[in-house]
Amino acid sequence: MTARLCALTCIATACLAGAVPAHAAEELTLYTTREPGLIQPLITAFSTQSGVKVNTVFVKDGLLERVKAEGARSPADVLMTVDIGNLIDLVDGGVTQPVKSAALESAVPANLRGADGQWFSLSMRARVLYADKSLPLTTFRYEDLANPKYKGKVCIRAGQHPYNTALVASMIAHDGEAKAEQWLRGVKANLARKATGGDRDVARDILGGICDIGLANSYYVGQMKASKEGSDARKWGDAIKVIRPTFANAKSGGTHVNISGAAVARNAPNRANAVKLLEFLVSEPAQAFYAETNYEYPVRKGVALDSIIASSIGELKVDPLPITEIAKYRKQASALVDKVGFDQ
Ligand SMILES: [Fe+2]
Repeated sequence: MTARLCALTCIATACLAGAVPAHAAEELTLYTTREPGLIQPLITAFSTQSGVKVNTVFVKDGLLERVKAEGARSPADVLMTVDIGNLIDLVDGGVTQPVKSAALESAVPANLRGADGQWFSLSMRARVLYADKSLPLTTFRYEDLANPKYKGKVCIRAGQHPYNTALVASMIAHDGEAKAEQWLRGVKANLARKATGGDRDVARDILGGICDIGLANSYYVGQMKASKEGSDARKWGDAIKVIRPTFANAKSGGTHVNISGAAVARNAPNRANAVKLLEFLVSEPAQAFYAETNYEYPVRKGVALDSIIASSIGELKVDPLPITEIAKYRKQASALVDKVGFDQ
């Protein structure tokens, strides 16, 4: 088909050079660990706007292993995932490539993207304090979680969950390993129950009177408070107030965030379209979508927050320590969680 078209329409030299027929379908393949429901509307909007067909492949586990195994024949153009650790693993695993794009560089702050454009953040989530509404708390420091006055009052999911190892890594980056260990032992001593379950269970257990405070991600607040009136999730969401914690020794007073992000695959067959998709995802309408639909914080400045997030959590002041610097300590953080028996 291609050869025949070529014979009809191309001059011989163009055919020899492998020229692509002008009508060839524009497409790209997206590998994503994010739930398809969350990103599909964005992908559909991209296809409508650009005319690029997107083949979305939902990869629940083993994204890096899969792309590695596929090697040079991998159909993947864009790799999308959550957590800084996962993105850095993709870079270290050699399955990404550098991208130079003025649109991406102006939309994504330097501390939220990889060196040489090897990955880009697309949205942020803050690790915030859920507290019983009746507590007279207005500010909070992560260090306070270890204060003995909260003995038997703290709920949190497993220390080995990436959301928590990233925070422990951040604590190591701020205070050093010895202090971070002391802190983690203090938090462990304050636990009201085993460190397990999910982030929403912190709100559930505050409502249930099991604990007074706990740490969880910011977008769950939007999910719970937007749930149907009378539903369990709505009751949990309505039982808490939310505070953006800061680090005691950081003068700047920022809150710990993690990210969702994406990279262009090393062997992307449709590289130009891959870059187009990333540029679309940091455009204003796409960033507003992340805010409204996923209750995440946009990475692009000037994009309005979801109204529930705006009223119950507010504008985010991000811990200025570069996220790549924090990520260097994640293995150490994981070892520390084991060392103090946090999840036992
Ligand atoms: Fe989550």
